[in-house]
Amino acid sequence: MLETITRAIPAGLPLPELYSRVERHVPPFEWPLLAEDIAAILSLKRRKNAVILAHNYQTPDIFHTVADIVGDSLALAREAARTDAEVIVLAGVHFMAETAKLLNPDKTVLIPDLEAGCSLAASITAADVRLLRERHPGVPVVSYVNTSAAVKAESDICCTSSNAKKIVEALGAPRVIMLPDEYLARNTAKDTAVEIIAWKGRCEVHERFTAEDIRSLRESHPGITILAHPECPPEVVAECDFTGSTAAMAAYVGRERPARVVLLTECSMSDNVAIQYPDLDFVRPCNLCPHMKRITLPKIRQALETMTHEVVLDPTTADRARRAVERMLALG
Ligand code: 13P
Ligand code: SF4
Repeated sequence: MLETITRAIPAGLPLPELYSRVERHVPPFEWPLLAEDIAAILSLKRRKNAVILAHNYQTPDIFHTVADIVGDSLALAREAARTDAEVIVLAGVHFMAETAKLLNPDKTVLIPDLEAGCSLAASITAADVRLLRERHPGVPVVSYVNTSAAVKAESDICCTSSNAKKIVEALGAPRVIMLPDEYLARNTAKDTAVEIIAWKGRCEVHERFTAEDIRSLRESHPGITILAHPECPPEVVAECDFTGSTAAMAAYVGRERPARVVLLTECSMSDNVAIQYPDLDFVRPCNLCPHMKRITLPKIRQALETMTHEVVLDPTTADRARRAVERMLALG
């Protein structure tokens, strides 16, 4: 099963062994170039007591060779809270690095490319949340972890795609504001009696999948198993076989071993899971996240060499945002 938590690269693992993990995605002529960066990163990690947290959407060369911890947003937040490394490099997008920093105010948290954003995080500001609260007095605010620290600071609690329903119900309120992902909110609302007030944010990767995609996949690949991320439109979720976070999708594949499967999500997800299950047939389509793809091995190497780009948060905002993240983590 694709682990959602700590997977350490054994110190000194020979490069040919690392290559065997990614040979389906890296042609032999490209390997010497990558191997140089990988060797440098492994040595920098040891020298600087650094750990690399990589999201499931990172490319296989990062995910399967230099990452210490891989997983979905919830796992990365949990593991960020547990690590005793002095430096955390977040191979993912900016809000994930901010979350790691919130949970480790005294550690150095680096993001290899400052432009690695997220259409959901960009869809809402702290001022928008304050306006929502004015419009719906007394209604608690649940913020998806895909938000800025400033938005988290205005929220009662965070959630991820792994625990959205649980968090919404744990508040014990008849109505909640759930932001910013309209589709995650609508998909969660179908499963709970709690009334959900949504925002209009969308993930630019998942909003592009359609129910028509599912029908044509079923037509061209009879018997195929279709998994979709809950950031997909509700009509896609209604027609797929399983919906879950990136870690939940990987776990489903490991558990059910569908002979032919498609993951309606970011492209590297299938690449990474397929490496672990070479006997299964992974059918694409998928969509690329341009933000996740900004993170590369050379940029990770540079981040560790130059100790950039360091995530710095305003302490007052960070204290308030941390409460929302920690409240989520405390709920398990
Ligand atoms: P999860 O890994 O938590 O499912 O989130 C997906 C995502 O889009 C992160 O950017
Ligand atoms: Fe944001 Fe979507 Fe990219 Fe995830 S996949 S980082 S939600 S834009």
